[in-house]
Amino acid sequence: MIEVSNLHKSFGSKQVLRGIDFTFKEGQTTVVIGPSGCGKSTILRLILRLFKPDQGSISVNGTSIVDLKSQEELDAYRSQIGIVFQSAALFDSLKVWENVGFMFLENSKMSKAEIKHIAEEKLALVGLDGTADLFPSELSGGMQKRVGIARAIARDPQILLYDEPTTGLDPVTSTVIEDLISSLQKRIGGISIVVTHQLSTIFRTADLITMFYEGRILDTGTVEEMKNSANVTVRNFLEGKVVSDERNV
Ligand SMILES: Nc1ncnc2c1ncn2[C@@H]1O[C@H](COP(=O)(O)OP(=O)(O)OP(=O)(O)O)[C@@H](O)[C@H]1O
Ligand SMILES: [Mg+2]
Repeated sequence: MIEVSNLHKSFGSKQVLRGIDFTFKEGQTTVVIGPSGCGKSTILRLILRLFKPDQGSISVNGTSIVDLKSQEELDAYRSQIGIVFQSAALFDSLKVWENVGFMFLENSKMSKAEIKHIAEEKLALVGLDGTADLFPSELSGGMQKRVGIARAIARDPQILLYDEPTTGLDPVTSTVIEDLISSLQKRIGGISIVVTHQLSTIFRTADLITMFYEGRILDTGTVEEMKNSANVTVRNFLEGKVVSDERNV
């Protein structure tokens, strides 16, 4: 599990996270919601250890990651994490299987045939059999997104981070991606963290929702609990009403 405690992070004079305490549990999809600028992507970057918190701790399976120093330690830590961005961020000049196996092509001594085999396995898991030799430009936006997910799971990560995985997709494609997030969670069984403000994605993927607001956690619970939250800002957010983080407007 990932335990964060008293997490603070500022950029310049802007206090983004102001004391976040949370445990992301194994076997669960936790959806992080909150208005634009409340620090959702920041917490994913902290978990990836792209930078350090100003205060507080992050421990992953009992080990503090804040003090990882050498590139080897960081690489070993990050190899257990898969990340899916809003844009599929594929290399246009590489074939689909090369995109999926990119980390292996760059960093391992495996043969191309072995890497392609792994890539084809992961493509099958996201419903893209038979696309390995195509180029990204030959795929629809939703299929490209699935290639991005296949790449994220290439190294069998125990932690999957999704930052706005369905933003900008049409409703049918969003549903496909949401179902994929849920089915991968069941299959892999590790920790999934989904950052989104799209209601369908919240409702279709969340085991647990936590809402960030003004740098702190406003409330945490299941979908039903959060729909009935005592906090009106949480209820408004889940009813699709505009909620802004007052520090950011
Ligand atoms: N590297 C950085 N340097 C300076 N400011 C940053 C940096 N990263 C984030 N910020 C600022 O921190 C705040 C929180 O950013 P973050 O990306 O975590 O928000 P978010 O909740 O993901 O918002 P959105 O829903 O718009 O993606 C924003 O005001 C942003 O401008
Ligand atoms: Mg963001």
